Amino acid sequence: MSHSSALALDTLRLHSTLYTGQWMRTDIAGRTGVTTRLAGVEDWLLIDGFHRRCSPEALLHRWGRGTVRQRDWMRLCLSAVSFLTELPADGEAVALTSIGPVSDAPDVVDIGIQVSDAWQRQGLGTALVCQGARLARSSGARLLTAQVQASNQPMLKVLRSLDADFTAPEHGQVTARIDLSSV
Ligand SMILES: CC(C)(COP(=O)(O)OP(=O)(O)OC[C@H]1O[C@@H](n2cnc3c(N)ncnc32)[C@H](O)[C@@H]1OP(=O)(O)O)[C@@H](O)C(=O)NCCC(=O)NCCS
Repeated sequence: MSHSSALALDTLRLHSTLYTGQWMRTDIAGRTGVTTRLAGVEDWLLIDGFHRRCSPEALLHRWGRGTVRQRDWMRLCLSAVSFLTELPADGEAVALTSIGPVSDAPDVVDIGIQVSDAWQRQGLGTALVCQGARLARSSGARLLTAQVQASNQPMLKVLRSLDADFTAPEHGQVTARIDLSSV
């Protein structure tokens, strides 16, 4: 990564703290709001439990593998800022959203997201990508990107709802690009 030209991870971290305070609330249709907070290396056990409640197919879309190891999480913590979405009642983790700078691409932030299978199709993915986009913009980014498999209809739908445009598929993958000036 070229630290001189990419939006600095520290800047994203700082703005994430300012943006979320201790946590932020996301309301989803017909349910009590869930809460979202910054996550770090110390959250590994929660992160592990969360991923164990996700199907291998769903993990494959996000990670390119059916299991997530501790070293994958550690690596992600070094390259991105992550947010854990939890149920207010018992703290069960239901979503993990990560945003990080893109090498040699100033003003660009990339987002990755996982909603646990049981919590999909309730508007949570869309709400969290929207929050990620606003946070990226408030950190100085102009463009939000996401790497998505061309067959991943749910994520393509989420991104289309935010007016993303898409590169042509390459090896089954597309890059979605969201102009943050309109978010
Ligand atoms: C992609 C993902 C984050 C979407 O989360 P979500 O909470 O289900 O998203 P939403 O509820 O906001 O749904 C967004 C749209 O996708 C649609 N959708 C969700 N799951 C779907 C499915 N399995 N098949 C078809 N459409 C689906 C929803 O109906 C909704 O469309 P609508 O607004 O027209 O009703 C979630 O499916 C997921 O975690 N998938 C596995 C990991 C992944 O693919 N990550 C993206 C790569 S970084």
